[in-house]
Amino acid sequence: MTAHDRYANLEVGYDIPAKPGMDEADIQTPCLILDLDALERNIAKMGTYAKAHGMRHRSHGKMHKSVDVQKLQEKLGGAVGVCCQKVSEAEVFVRGGIKDVLVSNQVRDPLKIDRLARLPKLGSSIIVCVDDIANVADLSAAAVRHDTELGVFVEIDCGAGRCGVTTTEAVLRIAKAVDAAPGLKFTGIQAYQGAMQHLDSYAARKDKLDIAIAMVAEAVTALKAAGLDPELVSGGGTGSYYFEAGSGVYNELQCGSYAFMDADYGRILDADGQRIDRGEWENALFILTSVMSHVKPDKAICDAGLKAQSIDSGLPVVFGRDDVTYVKCSDEHGVIEDPNGALKVNDRLRLVPGHCDPTCNVHDWYVGVRGGKVECLWPVSARGKAY
Ligand SMILES: Cc1ncc(COP(=O)(O)O)c(C=O)c1O
Repeated sequence: MTAHDRYANLEVGYDIPAKPGMDEADIQTPCLILDLDALERNIAKMGTYAKAHGMRHRSHGKMHKSVDVQKLQEKLGGAVGVCCQKVSEAEVFVRGGIKDVLVSNQVRDPLKIDRLARLPKLGSSIIVCVDDIANVADLSAAAVRHDTELGVFVEIDCGAGRCGVTTTEAVLRIAKAVDAAPGLKFTGIQAYQGAMQHLDSYAARKDKLDIAIAMVAEAVTALKAAGLDPELVSGGGTGSYYFEAGSGVYNELQCGSYAFMDADYGRILDADGQRIDRGEWENALFILTSVMSHVKPDKAICDAGLKAQSIDSGLPVVFGRDDVTYVKCSDEHGVIEDPNGALKVNDRLRLVPGHCDPTCNVHDWYVGVRGGKVECLWPVSARGKAY
């Protein structure tokens, strides 16, 4: 089916924000747009980095929630599969044809466990995280019931302070239980340090990762001594991947935000003290917004308010302009300070969202643009899949 056929019966403005072939100027706002050139460069760069450092990259799909973006990460960036956080997200990626799926989270609810254990029947391998020995029997029973196999990562809390065990003894105990459980395969370790990714200073991030690496190294040594050599040691995000890659302990990265970038991540500094959105990664994701009112000379009101984005990590930043500033928003309005009266009604602005993950989750579509034209329209396939 061509892109044209796929959207033939959908109406721009009502069903979808744009159709392939349209001018960028006609896209209906507010909506998410992807600068495809920038996206492809980010993806290829991470792929090259991972390969050069002998690392697998399992890109994190909780960020984009899109089968199309994931497929691009596999094609252009050599990603080996996807991470996601919820069983419902995993279902979307599996049904979309992604063959290697890690639920980088705990699954405890009986119905969710049952759904998870069914997924390998659709042809994908599934790994799930465990931090409690009581979870092992439930996962095993479900896998046996469905005659499938689930891979298991024992999750270490290496500083994030959320799920995960904190002692090597606990890692060993769970790994042994998994190894002995029918229908389960002890596949490795999950150790994502989520609390340091957004620290501004490279040195501060390194200090936190040094602690994480030491914990993981101790666990790996103990597992090897017990004859349970972990095949995969997985973790790492956009603010830390070079530490995991240089650790000699991890062999799989889980970066997500690098592909799109956002305003909150963009301000963190690399080893040379440069913002990571000024060289390391490019902004590829934008909220496209239009000015809808400018009756006050120094204020433009745009159509991207709270319902078009998440502002948990700060307000969006107007891309490519320092003469206007997004200063405030309410449900349906964004207030833009325009001291020189540079904007007029119907002007378009690209906003870099404060936080990409929850912003993507409130939209149905990505509009891919290149050279002023709409090239593709991709569904945010796992939008709202939070269960
Ligand atoms: C378990 C896990 N791995 C990887 C990531 C990806 O991190 P980032 O978006 O910082 O690259 C996240 C993001 O929160 C995560 O929760």
